[in-house]
Amino acid sequence: MPRLVIVSNRVPVPKPGAKTQPGGLAVALKDALEGRSAIWFGWSGQTSREPGDEPAIVEANGVSYATVDLTEQELKLYYTGYSNGTLWPLLHYRMGLVEFRREEEEGYRAVNERFARVLAARLRPDDVIWVHDFHLFPLAGALRRLGLGNRIGFFLHVPFPPAPFFAALPRGEALLADIAQYDLVGMQTEEDAANLSGALAGAGLSTRVEAFPIGMDAEGFAKTAARAARSAEAKRLAESLNGRALLLGVDRLDYSKGLPNRFLGVDRLLRRFPEQRRNVTFLQVAPVSRGELQQYRSLRRELDELAGRINGQHAEVDWAPIRWITRASSRTSLSGYLRLAKVGLVTPLRDGMNLVAKEYVAAQDEKDPGVLVLSRFAGAAAELPGAVLVNPHDPDEIAEGLNDALSMPLEERQARWRENMALLKQNSAARWSKGFLAALGEDATPPGSGSRP
Ligand code: ADP
Ligand code: G6P
Repeated sequence: MPRLVIVSNRVPVPKPGAKTQPGGLAVALKDALEGRSAIWFGWSGQTSREPGDEPAIVEANGVSYATVDLTEQELKLYYTGYSNGTLWPLLHYRMGLVEFRREEEEGYRAVNERFARVLAARLRPDDVIWVHDFHLFPLAGALRRLGLGNRIGFFLHVPFPPAPFFAALPRGEALLADIAQYDLVGMQTEEDAANLSGALAGAGLSTRVEAFPIGMDAEGFAKTAARAARSAEAKRLAESLNGRALLLGVDRLDYSKGLPNRFLGVDRLLRRFPEQRRNVTFLQVAPVSRGELQQYRSLRRELDELAGRINGQHAEVDWAPIRWITRASSRTSLSGYLRLAKVGLVTPLRDGMNLVAKEYVAAQDEKDPGVLVLSRFAGAAAELPGAVLVNPHDPDEIAEGLNDALSMPLEERQARWRENMALLKQNSAARWSKGFLAALGEDATPPGSGSRP
């Protein structure tokens, strides 16, 4: 089997001695990496003054993790500026938040070129390369310009908007030309795949674009959650509820997650369905993310204010409706909270997939499962037919969804959960990565040098 080379902006380098709690991508790729030779390349997560082009290497579980530092300036232009200030809002349909600066676009391209140079020096002709996410659209083009003829696939973890919307991006055609350099482009949903194909066709370009909705290890997560729910910490949470139903949200503090409307939805629930007052506690865990950007800082202020105002209006001496935590928790702790929650509240305005929605389902106790209230604009909505779907732009609809979930009889909750869980087990992490790599044709003869224009 040819060597597998994974490239992503963040690299989950295992820390020596520390118990690993790998995030989504590391878990999803676990099976693809097992039992074969592999490199995982990307940014170290650090900045330094004069980072050399020699990557730092950590060998673990048969994988060679190779990372390079960025300069402060590279980070500002490539990551904060173009990736998070331009592409992230654009790809999440938020034109009003898009900021475009040419120097950031150029910095983004320069970092991709540098990554390509560092990587190319370590590649073999038959390596299969799999690049992840919007930080690295230009990587294949940069590798091709260095003369590489390897098979290169790309997976976009976030949504892709319709072509006329994407057309607003200055010099967007150059980005489409970059995307067309990949042999295969994987998207989260059929809708995203159709949008990208449309944008490519409009620019006179084409390559293979297909939907590969990302999967998870549902059984593994279920075990972790069942164990975590027995921990002292989870017991403290359960006792603190005094018999009330826990409504839970778990997200990065990001404007794509629809948090202000979610808070307003809880406010509407308490006003419109007074019988639910004092019956519920809403816990939102949202660790601060990308705080270098003003949009993220002002979102945090908005939510601080909203939580304070809603609590001020509804709280009583021994109860407040909202608990609001902006610190990070471990994945294991979160899995325990998810299991205790009667309602999982996942209401992004747009989301590629949303793994928390899937994790909530996987974490439930099958004898008494909670209900997922899910945005119809999350990729997960196409994969979890047993969820209560809501329009996240309407706090009243969120309130109605919450009320339905809280009033749902046990039998219906079980039926919905079984339907969701069966699909989660079917579309496992292993199936996702193997499916993508098989479609990329890694077992076929690698394209010979010279076969490429
Ligand atoms: P995004 O990738 O936009 O952050 P997803 O829901 O697809 O959204 O993936 C988030 C991942 O990060 C999930 O696996 C989730 O369990 C994890 N996560 C989310 N919030 C936290 C948190 N507060 N602490 C630790 N991990 C978190
Ligand atoms: C989303 C993106 C990932 C990114 C993650 C965390 O899931 O699709 O590429 O790594 O958010 O964001 P951050 O900016 O902290 O890497």
